Amino acid sequence: MVVVHVSAECYPMAKAGGLGDVVGALPKYQKKLGDEAMVVMPMYATPFLKNNEWDTQFKGKTNLGDWFFEYTIIKERTGKLGYSLYLVDIHGLLDRPQIYGYDDDADRFLGFQIAVVNWLSHWEKLPDIIHCHDHQAGLIAFMMRYCYDYEKLKGIKTLITIHNAQYHGVMNWSKSNVLPKWDSWKQGLLEWNHQINSLATGIKCADKVTTVSETYMRQLKYQSNGLESLFENEQAKCQGILNGIDNEIWNPASDPMVQFHYDKDSFMVGKQKNKDAICAKYHLDRTKPLIVFIGRLVGEKAADVLPGAIQHALDKTKGGANFFVIGAGDTAIESALNYLTQLFPGNYNCWMGYDEKIGHEAYAGADFLLMPSRVEPCGLNQMYALRYGTIPMVRDTGGLHDTVIDMGDPNGFGIKFLNADEQDIVYSVQRAIELYEDKDKMTKLIQQCMSIDHSWESVVHEYKKVYESL
Ligand code: GLC
Repeated sequence: MVVVHVSAECYPMAKAGGLGDVVGALPKYQKKLGDEAMVVMPMYATPFLKNNEWDTQFKGKTNLGDWFFEYTIIKERTGKLGYSLYLVDIHGLLDRPQIYGYDDDADRFLGFQIAVVNWLSHWEKLPDIIHCHDHQAGLIAFMMRYCYDYEKLKGIKTLITIHNAQYHGVMNWSKSNVLPKWDSWKQGLLEWNHQINSLATGIKCADKVTTVSETYMRQLKYQSNGLESLFENEQAKCQGILNGIDNEIWNPASDPMVQFHYDKDSFMVGKQKNKDAICAKYHLDRTKPLIVFIGRLVGEKAADVLPGAIQHALDKTKGGANFFVIGAGDTAIESALNYLTQLFPGNYNCWMGYDEKIGHEAYAGADFLLMPSRVEPCGLNQMYALRYGTIPMVRDTGGLHDTVIDMGDPNGFGIKFLNADEQDIVYSVQRAIELYEDKDKMTKLIQQCMSIDHSWESVVHEYKKVYESL
């Protein structure tokens, strides 16, 4: 089976969040299962582009409304990622350092999608499945079916995976004129609340809709930023499939970004050494439990609650734990988190930014990972934490609900709480400190965490089943 993933992110070429990790790993494991999986994404001006070699695969021409443009498809030369990676180069539109955040993002991803569909129409032998990810690929299925120029793509099966239903790729209706000529009887498929809503279009037009955990799939029917009724109507073709993680990249026994390697048998020494290194570097107390937060500093991740919660937790427990926050985002949250370094030197520190290496070091050195997310479609961080023997402290929602069992339950190994608020976080910190002091229990739980298998190998066949059903 030939599967083409269409995505705005793919690690290591470009990643802003978990989407990049998933698209960067899933095709590798699909290939191991015997399918021909590949990725096509925009050619941004990232370090990975500059540091690797590329072959020109195809040159094409098409239109974005009145703008006639040429695009080039380039392919990573060595195949070292384990699958073929194709980039769409649209000069002046996509070749910029950032993935998102430009005023013309709507045009950028429209141009990208139009170029992808145009390129596909030139393939001699068509692929079997087009697997789209999030709203930046939400219009692909529509164009393949209802744009007159692309009728030959009509029969290819399409699937859209939703990694985050908070963002819809909404555009003014006038943008419908820049799409390649389409069947105007199908206007209803493009429209949601009098605008173009790329995600809604993807959900309506794709043959199958998946999201990244079963609980999030259920939650979308009552919390999806305005698409609730659509999820209700389309539920027959919707399915939750939990993400996996790339156990080759995320392996504490060989991770090149981690200083002291360890496994299930040697974590006592290995984790402590990594923790000592972090504590020394960021002036934290090595004898106290180390609780880290890693993620975007936005409301979805409940990062706005962190400053108050950390302050109360440290006051209430008289400095009984260390906190280390890694992330970037909302500037008000960043400054509140920075300010805490003055209040709690020796117990608190933060690193405002996104850095893959500091993230890996933190998973290896931390005792606990805090994820108070208001919304969490799947969450990969808790899975990385488990793999690195770091106990997850999570709010009970979405994929966190599906992957963490509270230590109070039989077979439990983590700390779970109901509300993304200060009170619940402070209480969870108290539970974490208590657990940390019970060395035998803590050791047992770490071992249990490290035995859990969330590898792609264990879940990749779920996608295969979906493709086959189509
Ligand atoms: C998004 C979601 C996250 C999920 C990831 C990969 O970043 O917020 O929960 O794990 O996509 O699917």
